[in-house]
Amino acid sequence: MDILEAINSRRSIRKFTGEVISDENLKTILKAGFQAPSAHNIQPRDYVVIKDTEIIRKITEFHQYTKMLPKAGCAIAVCGDKEKQSNIGFLVEDCSASIQNMLLTAHGLGLGAVWCGIYSADNLVESMSKLLKLPGHIVPIGMVVVGTKVEDKKPIDRYDETKVHFNRW
Ligand SMILES: Cc1cc2nc3c(=O)[nH]c(=O)nc-3n(C[C@H](O)[C@H](O)[C@H](O)COP(=O)(O)O)c2cc1C
Repeated sequence: MDILEAINSRRSIRKFTGEVISDENLKTILKAGFQAPSAHNIQPRDYVVIKDTEIIRKITEFHQYTKMLPKAGCAIAVCGDKEKQSNIGFLVEDCSASIQNMLLTAHGLGLGAVWCGIYSADNLVESMSKLLKLPGHIVPIGMVVVGTKVEDKKPIDRYDETKVHFNRW
């Protein structure tokens, strides 16, 4: 899929068939995450691939906006390493760039995906860290829930000239 077509047609998909994505597609999506830019090229990111049904069930218990996760069957938690990047703003941006790359790649592969936020909701950060047994210097920033989609959603054109400013506000 052409890059502009992917960007313009990507939507959050929350309805899945239940068929878990292939290992090959998973690797392609992860690789796209690694390719994202990062401040000072530190790449302070780690990825936790979650397919275990019990872990998935527990996530849905404390994260109310992940009801689609069991049917998707797979989530990739993108985590920032505070020891590598102590500026939390940069850390979140680095992980977010990675998440967006993965969403677009999933879409390009014909899969459905949705970004599920974790940081900076303290309860979600704490619950995810405990559940995934993350070391203290690793912060879960967000999850890419990905699976075999049931439906396509219509692209939305969000371009708004009133929000574009040239040179000065
Ligand atoms: C930081 C962030 C956190 C999000 N968290 C969730 C979430 O927990 N659950 C969910 O279903 N969607 C979540 N979304 C997806 C947004 O709801 C979605 O991107 C937005 O409604 C626009 O729709 P679109 O992605 O189809 O263009 C999140 C998006 C972002 C950027």
